[in-house]
Amino acid sequence: MKNIVVTGGCGFIGSNFLNYMVPKYKDYQFINLDCLNYCSNVENVKSFENYQFIECNITNLDMTKFLLQKYEPEVIFHFAAQSHVDGSFEDPLRYLEDNTKGTTVLLESLRILKLKSLFFHISTDEVYGESSDVEMLENSILLPTNPYAATKAAAEMLLHSYGKSFNQEYKIIRGNNVYGPNQFKEKLIPKFIDLLKNNKKCTVHGDGQMKRSFVHVYDFSTAVEMIWLKGEGRQIYNIGSSEEFTVLEITKKLIQLIKKTEDYENYILLVKDRSFNDNRYLIDCEKLKGLGWKQTINFEKGISELVKDKFLVYGSKGWIGNIFCQEISKENICFQGKERCENYEKVRNEILKVRPDYVICSIGRTHGGIYNNIDYLENNPEINQRDNFDAPKNLMDICEELNIKCLYLGTGCIFEYDDNHTIGNGVGFTEEDSPNFFGSAYSRKKGELDLLTRQYKNTLNCRIRMPITKDSNPRNFVDKIKSFEKICSIPNSMTYLDEAIPEMLRILKEGKTGTVNVVNPGVISHSEILDSLGCKYNLITIEELEKKCVKARRSNNYLVTSDCLNLTPIKDIFK
Ligand SMILES: NC(=O)c1ccc[n+]([C@@H]2O[C@H](COP(=O)([O-])OP(=O)(O)OC[C@H]3O[C@@H](n4cnc5c(N)ncnc54)[C@H](O)[C@@H]3O)[C@@H](O)[C@H]2O)c1
Repeated sequence: MKNIVVTGGCGFIGSNFLNYMVPKYKDYQFINLDCLNYCSNVENVKSFENYQFIECNITNLDMTKFLLQKYEPEVIFHFAAQSHVDGSFEDPLRYLEDNTKGTTVLLESLRILKLKSLFFHISTDEVYGESSDVEMLENSILLPTNPYAATKAAAEMLLHSYGKSFNQEYKIIRGNNVYGPNQFKEKLIPKFIDLLKNNKKCTVHGDGQMKRSFVHVYDFSTAVEMIWLKGEGRQIYNIGSSEEFTVLEITKKLIQLIKKTEDYENYILLVKDRSFNDNRYLIDCEKLKGLGWKQTINFEKGISELVKDKFLVYGSKGWIGNIFCQEISKENICFQGKERCENYEKVRNEILKVRPDYVICSIGRTHGGIYNNIDYLENNPEINQRDNFDAPKNLMDICEELNIKCLYLGTGCIFEYDDNHTIGNGVGFTEEDSPNFFGSAYSRKKGELDLLTRQYKNTLNCRIRMPITKDSNPRNFVDKIKSFEKICSIPNSMTYLDEAIPEMLRILKEGKTGTVNVVNPGVISHSEILDSLGCKYNLITIEELEKKCVKARRSNNYLVTSDCLNLTPIKDIFK
């Protein structure tokens, strides 16, 4: 099998390039050499059989030489670099080390080993320096204005000299700004997306009038591939987009998409500019287009995809988890958790891999065996502990550690009417109240966890009750009571999921945490529901029910609806 070495493949562009190329070119073994800088992540690259990651700093000649000797790559795609312009003003020597020396070490290894690998150097349009109205061609003069660009230009010069002096074959690629998934949050677009999603202002340098062109990383990857397949000789290629925007225009676009407003002032903060900030990089890409390459993702499309929130749903096969997935998929990206959440390590790895913006925890146990209800848990304490406590707690712990927002679907069935909250006195249980109902194994566990959620700053504990939907389902509370031989009719708080799920997602996105009573305002009794549906029923007292029909006691209560929610009074739902 032939080998391809990719350097810096755990970074933004390198990882996208690998995810594109590795499954496509199965005849090649891809070896990713990366030293795992602060901006990189091994999880950026999907796992494939013909892919291998080796932690290696390319400034280390011995190790680099050893690996190149071992793998004798046909091609090297060299992405590894310090890539943040702002950082290069603070530590130019670091940039010189990784960008210029790192490139030279690779070239020197090839020279010493007498390897004939084709060397793809991923450079930047910033090597041209600031442009006015004239598009830069591949043979335009290089006049870098910041240390990052200067170290990249210096690497190009060394490569050129290795071509002339040692017959090194190469191609140089000078790219516009690139954007897309996996980009580290220090760069303009991911940084502003992150700030806006956290309700913070975008920090725009100077007056924001600098112009930038952005090419999507997918198009960048296909361009590199095209140059590999069709480019001839020692050539330089510009890769760019025909679209150009000012930084302020990009910021406004992101505000529109994420905040759904044109009230930009609230989300923009103008800050001191860089020591020097190029006004514009205008490049000519006709040479690349001549090979047959086309940009396929325009900025509007690429950015709309990128701002979508990523949700990871656990319990997605359950009734409510499934409704969550459907609702989430309307405007967001929805992943369904595959690991069992009691397995801390496995589920943590899965979360690290998916890297969601939000985790939805819709796991829990409300039935099993011959029981269609919580009575099942009276004789199954281990399952109760595992599914109603340990597994959701693991998710909350992991989200806390990784700073991910977690929506936990809790229950309101941890309260019962008492002397202060009598039936009909209009005093309901609030979010601050602690559980007072411990009559069933289910409620005891859920109550314990309800209390514990107060310690998590990333968890939104949504207490729902007797959930109903307009569609029928064996778990829908209305379908349940329709099937009961006898009902006891006590006014209760209930949750109409068709309204409540979009509301829960809305407040989650708005950054709400803590406990929220997600019930429709007011109370309704079982007989009122069945009356409204024209169903016949037989009544039974709660005492009789608990003595004759069920193993565990049931909670009845009135919860005060959280004022952050917009829900229809429960009685109006049945009108
Ligand atoms: N992102 C852009 O907009 C853009 C535009 C044009 C060109 N480029 C160039 O494309 C390349 C990739 O950029 P990116 O945005 O993916 O950068 P990135 O910072 O996301 O990734 C760079 C990767 O290189 C690795 N790396 C750095 N120094 C290393 C060393 N000494 N040894 C081994 N690995 C090392 C890092 O760990 C990281 O994984 C860079 O060469 C950059 O100059 C980027």
